[in-house]
Amino acid sequence: MWKDIHILLLGERRVGKTSLILSLVSEEFPDDVPNRVEEITIPADVTPEKVPTHIVDYSESEQAEYQLCEEVGRANVVCLVYDLTDLSTLEKVKLKWLPLIREFSMQDNMLPVILVGNKSDLIPDSKMYEAVPIMNEYPEIETCIECSSKTLTNVSEMFYFAQKAVLHPTWPLYSPQDGY
Ligand code: GTP
Ligand code: MG
Repeated sequence: MWKDIHILLLGERRVGKTSLILSLVSEEFPDDVPNRVEEITIPADVTPEKVPTHIVDYSESEQAEYQLCEEVGRANVVCLVYDLTDLSTLEKVKLKWLPLIREFSMQDNMLPVILVGNKSDLIPDSKMYEAVPIMNEYPEIETCIECSSKTLTNVSEMFYFAQKAVLHPTWPLYSPQDGY
């Protein structure tokens, strides 16, 4: 039984981590976004799974690497955000963020990750096919989702998937490597 859940948002600068948190909380797109917002606690009774949930922002411009290491150590799940209009940020997911999460994670099992393509309002069609090879390579990615903090599309779904990944993990119960 989980006492509470820590959701950490990571990803390259400007992909929209802070905007996603503020959009979830205020149900509108923030025009002015600070680099980082303080940890937000959502009480159990307003979360779909009825578990108190802490949402933690990270900003490379305000925090040092040791703080990143501490935050990953405290997290139960990471929402790893990239920008759908700048696929170099998805490349960084693979080359930088997923290896870093593996390195800093304190859990015996791998920390679950939700792969989040943000700014879907700016692209005409889904680019999910770009994320699929990375999903296949990293079993800790529970699911991927495309969303927009501007139009609020899939924002609450993203946080729900993150809660669900902690409470009802499909990995390591299922791993393609060992086939059960
Ligand atoms: P750092 O704190 O620097 O790491 O950036 P961040 O990942 O927190 O990004 P932030 O929320 O500051 O957003 C960066 C820029 O993208 C801002 O100008 C936002 O208004 C814009 N933005 C964020 N989400 C969306 C979105 O879904 N659609 C559009 N069109 N713009 C967005
Ligand atoms: Mg930010």
